[in-house]
Amino acid sequence: MLRRDGTLVVAREYSYTDFDGFASLYAKVFAEPPWFEKWSTEDIMKEVNGYFDEANLSFTIAVLPTTYPEKEGFDPYGERVVGFSVAYQVGPGRFPPELAEALLAQSWLYKRPIIYGDELAVDAGFRGMGIGTMLMEQRFEAFNMMQDAIFIGRTDENSKMVSMYKSLGYENTRVQDLIYRNRYYYMKGLYRSDEVDRCGRYIEWRRTK
Ligand SMILES: CC(C)(COP(=O)(O)OP(=O)(O)OC[C@H]1O[C@@H](n2cnc3c(N)ncnc32)[C@H](O)[C@@H]1OP(=O)(O)O)[C@@H](O)C(=O)NCCC(=O)NCCS
Repeated sequence: MLRRDGTLVVAREYSYTDFDGFASLYAKVFAEPPWFEKWSTEDIMKEVNGYFDEANLSFTIAVLPTTYPEKEGFDPYGERVVGFSVAYQVGPGRFPPELAEALLAQSWLYKRPIIYGDELAVDAGFRGMGIGTMLMEQRFEAFNMMQDAIFIGRTDENSKMVSMYKSLGYENTRVQDLIYRNRYYYMKGLYRSDEVDRCGRYIEWRRTK
């Protein structure tokens, strides 16, 4: 993908040699508002190890390679990590009860896989250039062999992620995180409806057309 200034941003699978670049970006972005989190390198390593315990992990980083115009090509050691995306398959029990119940029916009756988007972030100096969207599109691509997957993410109502979710076809489930009350679950593939059926019964959850 070409940035507006002509340099190339590449999305590729994470490998352990990317840890330093990943960890420094992780600590930096989640120290910003609305998160205000403090992450040590050790805790970030635990997070990364946790990702690899998950089912069907898609772990992608966006890198800005150092170019050598005179040699034509990139220096793999000069790459700069400017974004990342982490998503994997989960069961319905990972979510608050009202969401878990809706998801249980979908995964059990219709065998729909549930994909949880755990992380998405782009370095502040590189935002608004489409890198976040590119990482999300790669995420959809990674799971496109799975029939009828439901994509879920959780974000703070003040995060820039809210508009990104909207533009990618996610809807707010209006289900809050049980601990962080400003954080809501967003979902693509299933939405919360206020419709009633022919018998006048309230239809709560509907498959996205
Ligand atoms: C949320 C986040 C990942 C978005 O990343 P990003 O790379 O800036 O996303 P994009 O560039 O694809 O899209 C962002 C905006 O730029 C716009 N945009 C995209 N490409 C553009 C371009 N070429 N020119 C102008 N605007 C562009 C998009 O339309 C979008 O606008 P919107 O916010 O009004 O919908 C980023 O803000 C971030 O890392 N935030 C901090 C971490 C965080 O909160 N993560 C979510 C945790 S749940």
